[in-house]
Amino acid sequence: MIKKVLIGIGVLLVIIQFIRPTPNKSTDQSKDISTIIEVPEEVQKVLRSSCYDCHSNNTTYLWYDNVQPVRWWVEHHIKEGKRELNFSEFATYNIEKQLKKINDIGEVIDNDEMPLKAYTLMHKNAVLSEAQKEMIVNWVNDTYDLLDSQDSSEE
Ligand code: HEC
Repeated sequence: MIKKVLIGIGVLLVIIQFIRPTPNKSTDQSKDISTIIEVPEEVQKVLRSSCYDCHSNNTTYLWYDNVQPVRWWVEHHIKEGKRELNFSEFATYNIEKQLKKINDIGEVIDNDEMPLKAYTLMHKNAVLSEAQKEMIVNWVNDTYDLLDSQDSSEE
């Protein structure tokens, strides 16, 4: 009985390897946040290595990300993450949304909510150092003030 169950699971695992979600891969940078907001290179580097895998249209997959059912789980994070914040489409957000998202970035970093723990477990280089957190939060504050002043000057 146990043997049959194990064989069943094995067969299932093989079959699901053929069910592949479309990869989150795009080289289109035309609506990236950096096209409308100044993102210093150092900040950009951190966002790209710690956030873009789930919050952009371009994920760098690890080899086991392609093994099912891991891939579904990863793809779910990407879908949920992009729904909240997509750096690749930031330029399409209206000003209120931009302000809110910039503010949220500061909050999740301050509260150590992002990057997700499930992610940093396997992506050690995505863990933010105190200096990196400070740099991002400073950038967030400056950017927020700048966007906010541009917003009110248009009214
Ligand atoms: C492993 C995927 C993953 C990574 C990496 C990741 N996020 Fe997220 N993020 C998510 C998911 C999933 C959600 C939506 C569910 C939730 O809030 O937990 C989210 C939500 C958010 C939100 C909105 C939630 C809120 O409470 O306002 C912000 C802002 C955010 N992430 C910023 C970041 C930043 C900044 C980084 C990099 C430092 C980052 N994320 C890295 C997956 C990720």
